[in-house]
Amino acid sequence: MAEPAVGLRPVTEDDLAMLRRFRTEPGLIGLDWNGFRDAGAVARRFAEDGYLSADDTSLIVSVDKDGTAAGFVNFRAGQYAAAGRYYEIGIALLPEWRGRGIGWRAQAMLCDYLFTHTPVQRIQAGTHPENLAEQRSLVKAGFTLEGVIRASEFRAGQWRDGYLYSRLRDDPAPL
Ligand SMILES: CC(C)(COP(=O)(O)OP(=O)(O)OC[C@H]1O[C@@H](n2cnc3c(N)ncnc32)[C@H](O)[C@@H]1OP(=O)(O)O)[C@@H](O)C(=O)NCCC(=O)NCCS
Repeated sequence: MAEPAVGLRPVTEDDLAMLRRFRTEPGLIGLDWNGFRDAGAVARRFAEDGYLSADDTSLIVSVDKDGTAAGFVNFRAGQYAAAGRYYEIGIALLPEWRGRGIGWRAQAMLCDYLFTHTPVQRIQAGTHPENLAEQRSLVKAGFTLEGVIRASEFRAGQWRDGYLYSRLRDDPAPL
C-alpha cells in the first residue's frame, strides 16, 4: 500500500463530527478513553478560537491531496520552575489510519511546527506502558524516553504508571 501524504492543518467545520466521535465512542481514542465527554464542547471551542490558541491548540492530521482527516494532534503549554515553559503533545488517529506511518510523521511535523513558530526548548509526551505503537512512534519522531511516572493516572479502574518522553530543540530531527 502506498504511504499517504501526511500534513497538519487547522480544524474546519467538516472535522467537528470526527472530533465529537472521539468524545462519545468508547475506546475510539484508545487507552486514553476515560468516559463520555460533552460533545457540545467541540462546537463551542471551534466557535471560540478554531482550536488555535498559543497555549492549547489542536490540528487535524490530514492525508492525501484532498486533506482527508485521519485524526488530530494537539499541544498544551506547561511550565517547570520560573522560566521553563514547555509543550506537551498528544495524538489520536482513527483506527483505519493506524499502522501506516502517519502517527510518527504527524508528531515529528508538530515538533517542527513548534520549533519553527515558538522559541520552545522542550517538547514532552506521555504514553502508557502497553502502548507500543505510541512508544515506537515517539522514538521515530525524535523523542527520548526519560522515565516512568509512577501511578500518574487513574485509568481503566486503577492507578497506572506513565512513560514520559521528550524532544529538545537541538535533538536530531527525523524528517
Ligand atoms: C499511537 C498512534 C498515534 C501511532 O500512530 P501510527 O500511525 O499507528 O503508527 P506508525 O504507523 O507511525 O508506526 C510507528 C512505529 O510504531 C510501530 N507500530 C505501529 N503500530 C504498532 C502496534 N500496534 N504495535 C507495535 N508497534 C506498532 C510501527 O511498526 C512503527 O515502527 P517501525 O517503523 O519500527 O516498524 C496511533 O496508533 C493511534 O492513534 N492510536 C490510538 C490513540 C493513541 O494511542 N494515542 C496516543 C496516546 S498516548
